[in-house]
Amino acid sequence: MIVLGIETSCDETAAAVVNGEGRILSSCVLSQLKAHEVYGGVVPEIAAREHMTHLTPMIAQVMEEAGLSYSDLDGIAATCGPGLIGGVMIGMMAGKAIAAAHAKPFLAVNHLEGHALTPRLSEDIAFPYLLLLVSGGHSQLLAVEGVGSYKLLGTTIDDAAGECFDKSGKMMGLPFPGGPEIEKIAAECPDLQAARARFPLPRPLIAKGGTPENRCDFSFSGIKTAVRTHLENLPGASFNRADIADLAASLQATMAEVMANRCKNAFAKFKSLYPAAKPAFVVSGGVAANKTIRAALTDLATKEGFSFHAPPLNLCGDNAVMIAWAGVEKLRLGQSDPLNFKARPRWPLDPEPKARHSA
Ligand code: KG4
Ligand code: ZN
Repeated sequence: MIVLGIETSCDETAAAVVNGEGRILSSCVLSQLKAHEVYGGVVPEIAAREHMTHLTPMIAQVMEEAGLSYSDLDGIAATCGPGLIGGVMIGMMAGKAIAAAHAKPFLAVNHLEGHALTPRLSEDIAFPYLLLLVSGGHSQLLAVEGVGSYKLLGTTIDDAAGECFDKSGKMMGLPFPGGPEIEKIAAECPDLQAARARFPLPRPLIAKGGTPENRCDFSFSGIKTAVRTHLENLPGASFNRADIADLAASLQATMAEVMANRCKNAFAKFKSLYPAAKPAFVVSGGVAANKTIRAALTDLATKEGFSFHAPPLNLCGDNAVMIAWAGVEKLRLGQSDPLNFKARPRWPLDPEPKARHSA
């Protein structure tokens, strides 16, 4: 089985070819960072134009690198949401056009499902498993029961984890996106304990104990506000590289601690929901590339008797391998989608999230 995947939902233009055994036959990711950098965030209109320019030649390139012609494909998978609708439309229409022209199945992939299923590409992880999805737009804890079947255990009540990193990075004067920059500069902090004492940050929801309903939820906006306050309180509100290294280290450590706390609660919930399942914990999305966060979650999983899985670093951020792989998983189950499938700016993995409160 061979599937072409297309990803254009945010600021990465990506195409890839993957086979049914999880072998990556070709993959290309073009980041638009440079185009958006001056604006300090992703500009939807610019993103769509960039996708338009680069996608078609990129698809031709990955097909050539894989040594395949379109007739060799078993399906074409494209992200159909959630995301910036202009970009989503461009990738989706390209996928549909190839599918129509070569009479191949079209697979409408949920971008989040791409992140959710990626670890199954390289590892034998059975359903159900617990997933922490942490990216620029999402922070969710989900039970992955199967392809297309998810139960939301927790979500953010304000900002996403990546958003907290990105906005904090911007305040610290770091380039966009802030997440990887904060990780880099935090490594220059000479004494983490001293940095945390110098720049203490709140742990929203945790400090107050929480209620049974929000034990797996996240809240990051208070952390971001505290970062701002610390910066404003520095003498003359001016800071040097050493100040930022300390603040970044404190932020990263707090984020790791908060996430570990929420995941611990989710472990308990997962075990009560699926007592017969072999406990497996998967971390995915751009923030999963952070080594401090990965280490904290690996430790926690080991202590709690869960196996730990995270995609390789190059598959944590947005890419088309994960979209092609989600296409493989759907196709294997005999699923495909009609060519009039509508792009979805919003597309939750669990359409009935309230169910989590009674779970
Ligand atoms: O999954 P992704 O590439 O795109 C979305 O679907 O959002 O995630 C991007 C997010 C950004 O907020 C970025 O700052 C964050 O992931 N990120 C990181 C790291 N690498 C990327 N956050 C913390 N540490 C990192 N090393
Ligand atoms: Zn993503």
